[in-house]
Amino acid sequence: MTLVLGIVGHPLDHSLSVPMHMSAIFTLGIDYVYMSFDILPENLSHAVTQFRKEHIKGFNVTIPYKEDIMPYLDSIDEYAGKIGAVNTVNNENGRLKGYNTDGIGYVKSLGEQTGFDPRGKQVLMIGAGGAAKAVAFSLLEAGADKIIIANRTPERAEALHRHLCVYFPATSSQSIRLQDMNALDHKKINLVINTTSIGMKGAGDIDMDLTGFRSDTVVSDIVYNPLETPFLKRAKHAGLKTHDGAGMLVYQGAESFKLWTGVQPPVDIMRQAVLRALQEHH
Ligand SMILES: NC(=O)c1ccc[n+]([C@@H]2O[C@H](COP(=O)([O-])OP(=O)(O)OC[C@H]3O[C@@H](n4cnc5c(N)ncnc54)[C@H](OP(=O)(O)O)[C@@H]3O)[C@@H](O)[C@H]2O)c1
Repeated sequence: MTLVLGIVGHPLDHSLSVPMHMSAIFTLGIDYVYMSFDILPENLSHAVTQFRKEHIKGFNVTIPYKEDIMPYLDSIDEYAGKIGAVNTVNNENGRLKGYNTDGIGYVKSLGEQTGFDPRGKQVLMIGAGGAAKAVAFSLLEAGADKIIIANRTPERAEALHRHLCVYFPATSSQSIRLQDMNALDHKKINLVINTTSIGMKGAGDIDMDLTGFRSDTVVSDIVYNPLETPFLKRAKHAGLKTHDGAGMLVYQGAESFKLWTGVQPPVDIMRQAVLRALQEHH
């Protein structure tokens, strides 16, 4: 019996996850298929009931359901529960268990692509939305020393800071206003991450001076369309190491794939599939 995997969200035009996971399935020659499930909010509960069937092995969850799906699941992994969002569901003998692979995928891709090890490091994270939460959690879990959160809406940065303090009381986090980023001591920052949608489709840039950093500072952007955002382009010109958003997409997908199939997927092939799909549709 062919086992079904997929992605649940709305709207879902040209999801990059479909070609990405199908490339891994074809390469490994395993009997799975990965499909797109564009589900209206009023149908989510019914859809989840259908997903308990034996042949549906698991699925990813994306905007706008990462939090909304949680009450419909039978159990939630401890880590996803702490983050408060689920991006992966695994069908474990008819019982649906929710996981979150976004943050761990981010940290793994950062390590693989730039050699960055979060242990003892200071991070400036721009943005305090859903993706930021998972990224911050995983960086602290991986041993980061401090996270400074800068966000347009200061209350949201403050709420994330307080949430992090609950789970990581020994490490420090801090929330600042977006306009105060340039006043920070850049020499002390080892990693700068954009987790906002600024720079998507090449529109807009982060209002941040990229001078005064140590030469081993990494500048990372989780926006993957375009792969080189205006922010990353400036970072490269400033001589800093850069890390693009396709990395997080591929590695969170690889972590989900391992959960469903028990097999390590070919990440290089998945990345090539993402880059091809970006050229074709985005
Ligand atoms: N690479 C990957 O695998 C991956 C995974 C997930 C998400 N992403 C990308 O990450 C981005 C954020 O996703 P999300 O799910 O976290 O979204 P979200 O929960 O809606 O959060 C959006 C964030 O962007 C900020 N923002 C939006 N427009 C802004 C502007 N014009 N000026 C300043 N700040 C602005 C928001 O600030 P306020 O709080 O002030 O509104 C908030 O911090 C998207 O581009 C998404 O495609 C990539």
